[in-house]
Amino acid sequence: MNYKKNRVCPVEIAGGLDNRFRRWLQNPRKILKPYIKEGMAVLDFGCGPGYFTIEIAQMVGKFGRVIAADLQEGMLQKLRGKIHGIEVESRIALHRSEANKIGLSEKVDFALAFYVVHEIPNQKEFFKELESILHPSGQVLVVEPPFHVSKSAFADTIGKARDAGLKPAKGPKILFSKTVTLKKG
Ligand SMILES: C[S@@+](CC[C@H](N)C(=O)[O-])C[C@H]1O[C@@H](n2cnc3c(N)ncnc32)[C@H](O)[C@@H]1O
Repeated sequence: MNYKKNRVCPVEIAGGLDNRFRRWLQNPRKILKPYIKEGMAVLDFGCGPGYFTIEIAQMVGKFGRVIAADLQEGMLQKLRGKIHGIEVESRIALHRSEANKIGLSEKVDFALAFYVVHEIPNQKEFFKELESILHPSGQVLVVEPPFHVSKSAFADTIGKARDAGLKPAKGPKILFSKTVTLKKG
């Protein structure tokens, strides 16, 4: 995952985000099991090539739904190719978001923002919009990379989430990560 601070992760390195080695270190099902139940509507925000998306679609079952949102059409294109013709394809909606606008009106039960928040120019607006599409009992898991997101930058992110009406709580332990969970305040 060789991308620079405050830059959007290039499509050319998407392969580095979805491989067997990462599965050993950051197993999607193990990470997401406490948060995702069958029938849920889940937002995989900044889905990239879909490392988490397909697993989420399996976890929500046939009555659940996943919105995989990303800024870059190239990332969505990779994911589109991966899900084409597989069983969970109909549960996954691909959505192109803008740099400072998620652009969804559908409410979600859970949102994952894995290694993406530091790439968002206006985090305050992002959390405000996220709060507005979260069900009252909904939850968000924010995971940031530890090396180019400093302790103070992460604290700043949590402060912005709090300002947007989201209540932070200690996140799970995930290798190579800083984490926080957020609920409606
Ligand atoms: C480092 S990748 C992480 C991908 C995926 N979450 C994962 O963990 O494998 C960050 C992704 O967030 C997307 N992204 C960056 N800024 C974004 C924004 N403002 N809105 C939506 N997606 C964004 C990038 O295009 C990229 O696909």
